[in-house]
Amino acid sequence: MNPYQQKRRWKYSLLAFAVVIASGSLLYTNYLVKNIATSERTRAQVWALSMKQVFASDDNDFLNYVFAVRDSLTVPAIVVDDKGEFKYKKGLDSTKTFIAIEAEENPNIKYDTAYFRHELNSMKEQHEPIKVTVLNSQWLVYYKDSALLTQLKFFPYIQLSVIAIFLLTAYTAFSSSRKSEQNQVWVGLAKETAHQLGTPISSLMAWIELMKDKFNAEKDPLILEMENDVKRLEIVADRFSKIGSRPVLENRNVYEVVKDFTDYFRVRVSNRITFEVRGDTNTRAGLNVPLFDWVLENLLKNAVNAIEDKGTITVDISESKKQVFIDVTDTGKGIARSKFDTVFQPGYTTRKRGWGLGLSLTKRMVENYHNGHIFVKDSELGKGTTFRIALKATPHDN
Ligand SMILES: Nc1ncnc2c1ncn2[C@@H]1O[C@H](COP(=O)(O)OP(=O)(O)OP(=O)(O)O)[C@@H](O)[C@H]1O
Ligand SMILES: [Mg+2]
Repeated sequence: MNPYQQKRRWKYSLLAFAVVIASGSLLYTNYLVKNIATSERTRAQVWALSMKQVFASDDNDFLNYVFAVRDSLTVPAIVVDDKGEFKYKKGLDSTKTFIAIEAEENPNIKYDTAYFRHELNSMKEQHEPIKVTVLNSQWLVYYKDSALLTQLKFFPYIQLSVIAIFLLTAYTAFSSSRKSEQNQVWVGLAKETAHQLGTPISSLMAWIELMKDKFNAEKDPLILEMENDVKRLEIVADRFSKIGSRPVLENRNVYEVVKDFTDYFRVRVSNRITFEVRGDTNTRAGLNVPLFDWVLENLLKNAVNAIEDKGTITVDISESKKQVFIDVTDTGKGIARSKFDTVFQPGYTTRKRGWGLGLSLTKRMVENYHNGHIFVKDSELGKGTTFRIALKATPHDN
């Protein structure tokens, strides 16, 4: 399994695990809430019954017992008679009172009808009232969830959000430290490779100069071909040495740079593939040519790989609103829309011998070293793909 697939599998397993934990926690809290709600209804019923007893009995001991039971019940409730007149309340804000009678008995108490209505309405919304017959009329006991139950209902959401924030912060911290570690490894390796290639390349160049003197290079183009390839090796080493240090960007004609590289590249692939470079020939942008050639090489190689047998690769250069666009279009197998972002992830490949590194390096070189953007502009399965590079335009010569 390649690292990309492994990462995806991990991601999905962890996601599934998180869903199991979250739903388990919600289900369990729901179960607790239901249990407590049932017990609160029972308490409200007992309280309603106790009221009946209070009016039916003269036994003081019994009444004291009933009052003790009543006071231990914590569910907030309001009792109204059959005409909707307020009778009793409990578990509500004791500084506010609802009835004129209470206000009459104690002139300091303010009659707060708004509060009474508000509380009664919220109780009506929450539960069916409990009916109890007192003194030959039917009273209704409205009640609402206790503060504890309300808190418990919200608890899992608060808890899960706190955990999610914590995990997100931890993930961001770890992934950024892992990225910077990867950066160091990749920069170190690139620099070391460039360094080690340096010596044999210089000797090869010297040998070629000697061979040119010894054999007639004009008559023997093989030596020139060899020289070309060694020069190429030198460019490769140069690319690697540029990784990690801020490359110098030169104000270059984009068309010319693209044309030069495409001309070099086209003779090295099957002649069943046609290349075309077209568009604005005056556009300029800040380019580091060795690195930008590498970008083009990766895109062109991918385009070649995507074309099974015969096809066309077009590079179109245009400028709009101070931006240069370089569109690389092929007539290959195409990329599914869901993979437009994924293709840039390191390790994602559909090729047997691919590493899935080409596009991730390309993205890095475009974004980090050229301050540009690269994305899949368009693609259709079986028809072809366009990758777009967007760079900041620099002033023209004229
Ligand atoms: N022009 C394209 N058309 C269709 N698919 C593409 C194209 N360019 C890239 N892809 C898809 O994106 C994948 C990743 O490309 P990338 O260049 O990163 O890796 P690779 O070409 O598979 O391997 P390598 O590391 O050798 O470049 C490819 O395997 C291919 O599936
Ligand atoms: Mg590639």
